[in-house]
Amino acid sequence: MKILFATSEAYPLSKTGGLGDVCGSLPSALQALGDDVRVALPAYQHALERVTGGVREVAALTVPGHDQPVRVLETLLPERAVPVYLISAPALFDDRPGTPYHDPDGREWPDNALRFAVYSRAVAALALGQAGLGWTPDLVHGHDWTAGLVPALLAQHERRPATVFTVHNLAHQGLYPRETFDQLGLPPAWWALDGLEFYGQLSFIKGGLVFADWLTTVSPNYAREICRPDMGCGIDGLLRHRRDRLVGVLNGADYDVWDPSNDPLITRPYGPDTLARKAENKRALQRLFGFAEAPGTPLIAHISRLVPQKGTDLLIETIPRLMSEQVQMVVLGRGEPRFAQALTDLAARYPRQLAAYVGYSEELAHRMTAGADMFCMPSRFEPCGLNQIYSLRYGTVPIVRRTGGLADTVVDASAEAVASDAATGFQFEQATSHALLEALRRALRTYGQDAKTWRQLVAAGMRQDFSWERGARAYQALYRQALQPPAQPEPAPRSRPSARVRREASGRLPRETSGRVPLPPPVAKV
Ligand code: ADP
Ligand code: GLC
Repeated sequence: MKILFATSEAYPLSKTGGLGDVCGSLPSALQALGDDVRVALPAYQHALERVTGGVREVAALTVPGHDQPVRVLETLLPERAVPVYLISAPALFDDRPGTPYHDPDGREWPDNALRFAVYSRAVAALALGQAGLGWTPDLVHGHDWTAGLVPALLAQHERRPATVFTVHNLAHQGLYPRETFDQLGLPPAWWALDGLEFYGQLSFIKGGLVFADWLTTVSPNYAREICRPDMGCGIDGLLRHRRDRLVGVLNGADYDVWDPSNDPLITRPYGPDTLARKAENKRALQRLFGFAEAPGTPLIAHISRLVPQKGTDLLIETIPRLMSEQVQMVVLGRGEPRFAQALTDLAARYPRQLAAYVGYSEELAHRMTAGADMFCMPSRFEPCGLNQIYSLRYGTVPIVRRTGGLADTVVDASAEAVASDAATGFQFEQATSHALLEALRRALRTYGQDAKTWRQLVAAGMRQDFSWERGARAYQALYRQALQPPAQPEPAPRSRPSARVRREASGRLPRETSGRVPLPPPVAKV
């Protein structure tokens, strides 16, 4: 199969979070199964600077909304044999501080709608064979709102590739005012409940959710959660309507990048049989942050975007009470300035126990994952989460809220789970600082008073296999299904969703149906 990934991030060319990790590693895993996978990524200036091989221009396109030709540059993903088409529009993907989406103060770039509309139009042209590349995909796999227009644009064509759209985070929908819709010159018929209109706004993500042939999200549990009104970000009605086309495929980890026995970024590589060496990574981390180099003091790590999703506020509320325990903590993150400031203030108040590095550092993320004893992830919601999966492999016991993919990947240290050697971490239910503190205390007690159980948790975590092969097989099976011609003429919603979708997308929700999200067996049983 020939597959084109449409994504705004692919590690190592561009990454702000897990989307970059997934789109940098899943294509290779699919290639290993025999598929021809290529990635279409905006040619951000920072991505061009990270290219390690050659780059050649393979096409130039005229794209509505952009007065310069959009050039298509071909290269390979560094250290992978995955072809990448860089969509070059220098005025839109120029060198900017902050992230591809936000300025350093967390404000969206004012031209984001235009940037990702131009990108999506160029990707759709590539996918339809209009760029003269001599390669057209059988299927386009779009990721998140930034590629949301791609399935919609393709759905306008009779002869087109099949489409799969993956929701990595339903909270990011790409919502813009009506004027933006007009300025982008999108088809007027799309200003409808069965199109891209969402409560009077333009919704990029609806382009994927309404028009893609199949929808996926990044864990089985999140697939169920987003069909519920309390977790569906206002769009659960549409997802319920399409639940027979919605599949939860658990993300994998790239163990070429995240494996303590072969990680050039950490102080001393180690594995399950050489765990004593993990202590050297802990000592180096303690030294780096000016903490006492005490081997017996539990060290907790937290790495994330500093946003409410990740429970940063819960963590901030919990820290003063946590600091009365004998514990050290290191936080790495960037995001909302109010959270960054609060963490910096707390670190100044508890300099011997708490360090906060506000910024982005791939190297520090690896060193923290290797050096810490525990990894804390108090997310309010978490579509999948990768840091807890990496932590498991590094023998760093995760403490997570029971939500989304965190619930699918971490087994709580209940008495039964410990007895059956299945436990890998600690879970808590309520999104409160009280519940978080309780879970942290439970972990600290086990660490300090029950070394046997702790060793068991570490060993069980390191045994877990979240490699991509399983997820790649599930996607491959789904792609095959998407390529099958429909048995009968399809009742919408490819181009014209039914009245019911229109009703549901309008927010007037039907009663909860009893249908369950179909999950492919290999990924549902985690
Ligand atoms: P999300 O995609 O919601 O941010 P994930 O857990 O799926 O969450 O993935 C986060 C990825 O981004 C991980 O690889 C993590 O190590 C990385 N990451 C997040 N914040 C930082 C940071 N400040 N510095 C370095 N890496 C970071
Ligand atoms: C999103 C989610 C995260 C997920 C990642 C990769 O950013 O917040 O939970 O792991 O995408 O799918």
